Amino acid sequence: MPLVDLKDMLRHARAKGFAVGAYDAVDSNFVAAIIEGAEAARAPVIVSFAESHFAHYDFPALVAAAESHAKRARVPVALFLDHGASRESAVEAIRLGVNGVMVDASHLPFDENVAATRSVVGMAHGVGVPVEGELGYVPGVEGVDAERHPGEIRLTSPREAALYVDATGVDFLAVSVGTVHGRLRGEPRLDLDRLAAIAVTVGVPLVIHGGTGLTDEQLRSLVARGVAKINYYTALSDLAAAAASNALADVETGYAAAIDAVRAAVADEVARTCEVFGAAGRADETLAVCRSWRNVEHVILFNWSDEVGDRAAEFEAEGRERLSRLPGVREATVGAAIHADAPYQRAWLIRLASAAAEAAYMKDPAHLDYANRVFRPHAADRIKGDFLRD
Ligand code: 13P
Repeated sequence: MPLVDLKDMLRHARAKGFAVGAYDAVDSNFVAAIIEGAEAARAPVIVSFAESHFAHYDFPALVAAAESHAKRARVPVALFLDHGASRESAVEAIRLGVNGVMVDASHLPFDENVAATRSVVGMAHGVGVPVEGELGYVPGVEGVDAERHPGEIRLTSPREAALYVDATGVDFLAVSVGTVHGRLRGEPRLDLDRLAAIAVTVGVPLVIHGGTGLTDEQLRSLVARGVAKINYYTALSDLAAAAASNALADVETGYAAAIDAVRAAVADEVARTCEVFGAAGRADETLAVCRSWRNVEHVILFNWSDEVGDRAAEFEAEGRERLSRLPGVREATVGAAIHADAPYQRAWLIRLASAAAEAAYMKDPAHLDYANRVFRPHAADRIKGDFLRD
């Protein structure tokens, strides 16, 4: 099954009254386990990458691995930047292959949160990528990740939630109704009336951060009140650590046994929570209503004019440098013909995140500046085309 459009996936979940699990991956074994667990439950799934975890792994390499797993998955998958810190983080994550982003400005005052989120929404929507914003504040309490979310809980106000969604244009709203990131001290107390009031004022799918530590009953009661995405990590981390430490107790068992044990433990918990969230058994119907997420190859076959001479390398370097930084561009590179008698000796090979990204790229002022100043005047001999990738 292909990667799918996350907005379609979560709108369907909200309409049908279930939630999709968004599980943070911290290595490629987690990615495999998350997808395996979802496949076992026949559930759509989101593989997330939390920016606060980037110190632990090579983000470009891990997203590439996740993209490869997702394309071979037997359930619909979306790849997501969790707790993105800035517009630049979102641009970079889209370049690397995610198809949904969160901008987390929830620690800022309302107006600043709106401004920071809007700037990401403007960029991301331009290239077809949906955005999650957060209003209210979900802190960490103790244990894994707690120190990354310092401070006190601030619950989301239903009135502000509606204003925030209108002012920012976010596609999904993360709300604070009593959950915390990481392990819980004591019993979680959820403000379900508040959640229900938010769901009445806000039409977009709602998101819960801090899924770990809630009882199955509490998780179900969140889903029943409009939550369509539940972020879940610390429990997976704890189960993985326990499985690894058991397997490694006897050194002679070997490291590969720990990898297998971790994958099995994480996959089981993913499958179990997909059941609790109501996502189990929903893979086929979800796939049927989701657009598939497909990159576009923008290809220009060309020859530099004779007068360009040695400047060709410099012209191409400038293009590579400038074009590959534009939002929605996954790669901008030049290919050289391998046959000397080919009618075109050079090719711009520009991979874009989506058809929307292609449209944005064609209008982008930096692209037009390069095209009109450097490329077109010196490469009159050219043909081009745009192709959807499988
Ligand atoms: P937990 O680690 O508490 O499950 O929360 C995960 C999360 O909200 C990631 O964004």
